[in-house]
This record gives sequence, C-alpha cells and structure tokens, in this order.
Amino acid sequence: MAEHTGLFVTFEGGEGAGKSTQIRRLADQLRRRGHDVLMTREPGGSPGAEAVRHVLLSGAAEEFGVRMEAILFAAARNDHVEEVIRPALESGAIVLCDRFIDSSRVYQGVTGNLEPDFIEALQRIAIDGVVPDCTLILDLPAEVGLKRARKRSAENAPDRFEREEIETHEKRREAYLEIAEAEPERCRVVNAERPEEEIAEEILAIVEPMVRELRSARAASTESVG
Ligand code: TYD
Repeated sequence: MAEHTGLFVTFEGGEGAGKSTQIRRLADQLRRRGHDVLMTREPGGSPGAEAVRHVLLSGAAEEFGVRMEAILFAAARNDHVEEVIRPALESGAIVLCDRFIDSSRVYQGVTGNLEPDFIEALQRIAIDGVVPDCTLILDLPAEVGLKRARKRSAENAPDRFEREEIETHEKRREAYLEIAEAEPERCRVVNAERPEEEIAEEILAIVEPMVRELRSARAASTESVG
C-alpha cells in the first residue's frame, strides 16, 4: 500500500458501466461503518480541474489533437491530486474516485493512439506518487454500456467521448482488461452486467478487508507511539 494513511480506490470502465451508482453505494456503506469518505471524479474534482473538464467534454479541445487533450487531462489530474486527493489521504480518509490514470491510458493512449511512454510520463507528473491502492474495473460489453449511457443522456447530449463508434468502445473494454491482467495486485475486474445490488456486494467484499487492514495498521502505529 502507498505511503499515506488513507485508502485510495478508483473506479474505471466504459460508458454506462454504473460507476457513479456503485461509488455512491460503497460510500454509503463505508460511512455507515464510521469511515471518513471522500467521493470525487475525473475530469474534475477541484475548481481548476472542473474548469478544464468543460473544455474537454464539450469537445472544444478536440480540434487541437489527442496530445493536447491528454495534456489537459493530466493538468486537471495534477490539480485534483494536489488540491483534493493527497490532502484527503493524508488526513486518513477513504477516497473513492470515478476515473483516474487508467482512463487516460485507455482513452488517450489506446484508442487515441498516443505512445505509451508519453502517456506514462504524463501520469507520473500528474499524480506524483499518489497511486491508487485499488482499482475496480467495472466490465460489461460496450453495446450494453452504450445503450445505458444513451438512455441516461436522453436529456443531455452525449459528450465528446460517448459519441464515438462501438468498435472504439469495445477496444477500450479490451484495454481495461489488459491493464487488469498486467497489474493484478492493484486491479480487480467486476462483472457489471448483473443486478446493482450484487455488484455492490462484491465491491464491498473487495474493499472491506483493505479498510480493516488500514484500521489495524493505524492501531499498531498508535500503540507504538503510545
Ligand atoms: P463523464 O461525464 O464523467 O462520464 P463517465 O460517466 O463516462 O465517467 O465523462 C468523462 C469522459 O472523459 C469519459 O468519456 C471518459 C473521458 N476521459 C478520458 O478520455 N480520459 C481521462 O483521463 C478521463 C479521466 C476521462
């Protein structure tokens, strides 16, 4: 686990995977158990990053190319990390974040065709050591996710990334699964094509032991100080 006193959990997946619903459910469960929980999201999560969010999701930066977009995502991430995530972790909170570095790897790296070295260099600068302790990848077929996302956005027009072709979404799904395979210690794949309740139970079962470990580590350090 990283060198902070809190716990950093990120949620990843394609459109319509149910990330925000599951984050809310997990936050409720953890708060009920007395934990200090911060829910946040990317792009955004801090005033500076929210300003960049609008530029990215409206498609205003699209004409300047994928490299420009990747740098903007990284700039937003750095602000979010330094202003919100790192301080929360240092204060001992559990931080639940909707999308993080893996979104850049998948969306800008794999389907944006940017060189992995470029993406990795950006991430290093953006997060400066604040690596997720656990990443939950909500997995489902692109078609199912897109249908859900489109239903949801019946009132809101689809954003710059939702507008892309089904093959692109399928490629992203594969890319997430490859990340999970490459980093099994950090990543857990959760089948998101199931009832909401079942998914929530699985997620809680994954996160709870980490929270327990955190508590006992804290208790041990308090004892050694006292
Ligand atoms: P958002 O409205 O937050 O939707 P979602 O529910 O899909 O998370 O939109 C975020 C969009 O930005 C989403 O399509 C993925 C994209 N994105 C990237 O391309 N790179 C990134 O690094 C991040 C954080 C998001």
